[in-house]
Amino acid sequence: MSTPVVLISEKEIQVRVAELAAQISEDYADAGELVMVGVLKGAFVFLADLSRKLTIPRTIEFIAVSSYGSGSELTGAVRLVMDVRGSVEDKHVLIVEDIVDTGHTLKYLSGILESHRPASIRTAALVRKAERAEVEVSVDYLGFDIGNEWVVGYGLDNAEQNRTLPYIGVVEPGH
Ligand code: PRP
Repeated sequence: MSTPVVLISEKEIQVRVAELAAQISEDYADAGELVMVGVLKGAFVFLADLSRKLTIPRTIEFIAVSSYGSGSELTGAVRLVMDVRGSVEDKHVLIVEDIVDTGHTLKYLSGILESHRPASIRTAALVRKAERAEVEVSVDYLGFDIGNEWVVGYGLDNAEQNRTLPYIGVVEPGH
């Protein structure tokens, strides 16, 4: 397996995550508690770093989905595998994603969480492939816009490999 080529360095990620955390802390300063909902599996690293840099009260939930089809055969249909465990009713919710690609997952999850009647919903994503968008979803706190490359690291995988790399790297499709 070839070594991923660095696209966004560990230092660049840490600086940007700190900036996002400062912005989120400022925006929610008077909001009471923020419920951060990490989308498994990929968001676990971003969620861990982002949540620990916030200066406001926050709790952590996880949600899991699965996409129908695989690889280039993905249909855009998304299925809920695991809902949040605690109640988010009347609470401020921040959905935390590692990557927004077509946008189907984030759109679907926004609908699911909306049905739990939170006080508000916003979204955070470390990276977004803007040119791949198939549905319109807003990302309130975005780390980086990237091109249509196969990225790994910082939670992102290729066939479950490379999730724990501290940087975001590019691999060739199929590697
Ligand atoms: C990735 C990522 C998002 C989704 C984004 O998850 O974590 O949840 O794809 O794609 P979309 O915008 O086209 O819907 P993946 O299916 O790779 O699962 P994983 O997080 O468990 O690796």
